[in-house]
Amino acid sequence: MKPSTKPLHNKFSSGPCAKRPNWNAEFLNNTELLGRSHRSKEVLQVINQVNALSAEFLNLPQGYKIAIMAASDTGAFEAAMWNMLGARGVDVIYFEAFGAEWYKAITEQLRLTDVRKFAADFGKVPDIAKVDFDRDVVFTLNGTTSGVCFNDLDFIPENRKGLTFCDATSGAFSMPIDFSKLDVTTYSWQKSLGGEAQHGVLILSPRAVARIEEYTPTWPLPKIYQLKKKGVFSAAVFEGSVINTTSTMCILDALDTLNWIQESGGIAAMYNRVNANFAAISNFLKTSQNFENLCADEKFQSRTSVCFQPKQAWFKELAEADQRKFIDKIAKILQDEKVAFDIKGYNSAPPSFRVWCGLTVEAADIKILCEWFEYACNIAAC
Ligand SMILES: Cc1ncc(COP(=O)(O)O)c(C=O)c1O
Repeated sequence: MKPSTKPLHNKFSSGPCAKRPNWNAEFLNNTELLGRSHRSKEVLQVINQVNALSAEFLNLPQGYKIAIMAASDTGAFEAAMWNMLGARGVDVIYFEAFGAEWYKAITEQLRLTDVRKFAADFGKVPDIAKVDFDRDVVFTLNGTTSGVCFNDLDFIPENRKGLTFCDATSGAFSMPIDFSKLDVTTYSWQKSLGGEAQHGVLILSPRAVARIEEYTPTWPLPKIYQLKKKGVFSAAVFEGSVINTTSTMCILDALDTLNWIQESGGIAAMYNRVNANFAAISNFLKTSQNFENLCADEKFQSRTSVCFQPKQAWFKELAEADQRKFIDKIAKILQDEKVAFDIKGYNSAPPSFRVWCGLTVEAADIKILCEWFEYACNIAAC
């Protein structure tokens, strides 16, 4: 039976993610700030407001520093690796596309040789028993492309000697994060906040700051990565004096969503929204005759980027190209009906779907979308 209703909001992309409920562009009328220098007292104040609210919601420990960097999460994470890696051996944990990219950057661009990898295929969880936290450890928190997530950081010891580098792009603001376990954390506004891309956020623990102060890599650093000036840590970058020009529109947009979080019950209410969204899709996947979560281990299932695939025996027997055609057919039905956009799995992931269930999405919409998935699957299989 064709479902009788459609989701009120049909944007389920895993990045850029849906704008917050009731988002509008009224802030673009801010003629006071748009067109002003990003170094002006007024714009600097807004940058610091965004950083302060973010630090509050993320519950950053005392002494942690937060800064806006160029080029989205990628820029922030590359800047961190280029500034701090090389002082110790590195263990890289990865289970999705971006973690694999960080491993490549470390071995092929920075050309570090004392590097060990702890990797797993899409949907699988790597064995991390032998990861050594006296070395630097690089990992992704929430595998946006694989639907696998470290839902807690209990595996990281308090008394580590190395630094932990966490790509938390799609985890920050969607799940509680114990920052005492993280020395270097990055994310971008385009994920959980439904913000705009090209601005990344870099968070440093006091130990990470000490690494920058005490260690100078052997390779040159492009200007947009430089966190040290004349051998001294650039504290000003973490006080709003960004390295290069920011977009005031993007900053106002981020502030708009942070204010919405505040007005909507704070970060705890956001975690509740994510949990409700995940419960909606997870209950569906547990009972569906047609689909199953790509990550079989419930403990590691992502609450936000939920990846799933058809589970029928006949589908599994198809050649990959035919599996992709089947996925395309379902995605096209949902798109043509304007029920859901951008719900195909990541290009390099197995033929699958990916539905963003973060805090800017509504559980009621996900429930309706699930009914449409069943319907489209039956139509596509005919
Ligand atoms: C885990 C992860 N890391 C990094 C990135 C790159 O983020 P950005 O495009 O904001 O640089 C993404 C984007 O999808 C991601 O999911």
